[in-house]
Amino acid sequence: MSDMLLSTDGVARLRDALAAAGFTSAGIAERLGPVATAAVARNDFRAALRVTEDRDPLATLIRVFVCAQTEPVEAVAAALAPLDFADAFDAGLVEAAPGGGVRQGVDLEPYGDSWWVLSDVPSSARPGQPLRPDHVLGIGGASSTLVGAAVRRPVGTALDLGTGCGVQALHLATHAGSVTATDLSERALRFAATTAALSGQQWEMLRGDLVAPVRGRRFDLVVSNPPFVIGPGTTTHTYRDSGRAGDAVCAELAAAAAELLNEGGVMQFLANWEHVAGEDWGDRVAGWFDGTGLDAWVIQREVADPMTYVGLWLADANEDGDPARAAAWLDWFDANDVAAIGFGLVTLRRGGNDDPVVRVEDLRQQTQQPLGDQIAAWFDRQDFVRDADLLAARYRTAPGLQLQQEATLGDDGWAVDRQVLVMPSGLRWSEEVDPLVLALVSGADGQVPLRDQIALLAVAHEVAEEDLADAAGPIVAHLVERGIVEPVA
Ligand SMILES: C[S@@+](CC[C@H](N)C(=O)[O-])C[C@H]1O[C@@H](n2cnc3c(N)ncnc32)[C@H](O)[C@@H]1O
Repeated sequence: MSDMLLSTDGVARLRDALAAAGFTSAGIAERLGPVATAAVARNDFRAALRVTEDRDPLATLIRVFVCAQTEPVEAVAAALAPLDFADAFDAGLVEAAPGGGVRQGVDLEPYGDSWWVLSDVPSSARPGQPLRPDHVLGIGGASSTLVGAAVRRPVGTALDLGTGCGVQALHLATHAGSVTATDLSERALRFAATTAALSGQQWEMLRGDLVAPVRGRRFDLVVSNPPFVIGPGTTTHTYRDSGRAGDAVCAELAAAAAELLNEGGVMQFLANWEHVAGEDWGDRVAGWFDGTGLDAWVIQREVADPMTYVGLWLADANEDGDPARAAAWLDWFDANDVAAIGFGLVTLRRGGNDDPVVRVEDLRQQTQQPLGDQIAAWFDRQDFVRDADLLAARYRTAPGLQLQQEATLGDDGWAVDRQVLVMPSGLRWSEEVDPLVLALVSGADGQVPLRDQIALLAVAHEVAEEDLADAAGPIVAHLVERGIVEPVA
């Protein structure tokens, strides 16, 4: 285990203090009530401060670590007991506040039923104060996206590459026999080791650049929320800058995946990619997997223009008051013809196929969370499409599948202009279909093999059965891939 912020005994004492006070997700929610809890989520602490005026241990911990308040030393010392206040102070858990009293020195966040995550105090709690270069990021939107997207099937070995506060590793430990967590940052590893111990988990922890610390080893599942931010390749903050120019860090992870994965293993990472003027962004990203032999599914969830992107990331590190920095960053985008930046998720599988599937697509619609089960099912369906006799199989439509129609009223009544199949749950794909495909989908009741369905349709529409079967193959493969129709076992 890496060094921690506290000694092993200190961590045990801190855990005792937090548990005894009820400083858990459920305990805080109960103490604050729904109104104050909702307000806290909007960084409005007024209601939370009103219900914690007693300054009992739970109230004090909420005031310090949730509401970012300065509190009297005696109250904080009592809330952290049996951890010695001097030990907490030396470890940097709390620090002297300007003007007296103490305030949080780190972010200490109860997470799940029995976990606590340590990270640096977020930029929002210290407005105007630039983050330290090795700032350890807490659980944010991107972390939660990856937590939800990870395939949670039982595995032997799992790796969290760029563990930071350790949030991904915590989840991996719930379904992996062993967890390895790496980071370039010594500070991040210290925080992650403390998160692990405080949460009653044990991980192997290794320091180094990207895959270097685990070179030559293979895993069943690899997850990474890497420092994917696109720019000139300079590093000001380890949590977001990889030191590689453009989107090279994500291309590097993609290239390393085949050597990192056991047969059947899965690697998932969040990524940013360039939309270069005159170039198809999908071709660019698909090029990352050339020659890897991996099945790949890349989903683009958001696209930002450079101005918005730079503004967002500078604000994230409280650097937004630096116009020269923004200008230099934007100049780099201009010089490299970067018109926009895509954000999404890459899932790779070492499937051992001669003809791996590589799909790069937009998936911008709201989806049903968590995505992990949907992603696992997508790869299962790829296996079916690759291996099965599609014409011999029977299919049924996705539960709740809807048909939306647009029609124009003319002299002969309504003329249907457009028919769209809509999945109301799951990935919520919508798919425009022609009448023949609609007839095929409508007849998919799980009773009849596709071949027989096609024979009936060929007669009804007066087309050659062979031709219809040839045309139907790729269409059904696509509908299965999207889960609009499902094969019946
Ligand atoms: C965006 S944070 C993700 C933290 C955490 N895994 C999560 O999901 O919230 C990226 C992490 O990658 C680490 N990192 C940065 N450059 C790295 C590199 N070259 N090799 C390994 N880790 C790196 C950072 O220190 C940071 O902890």
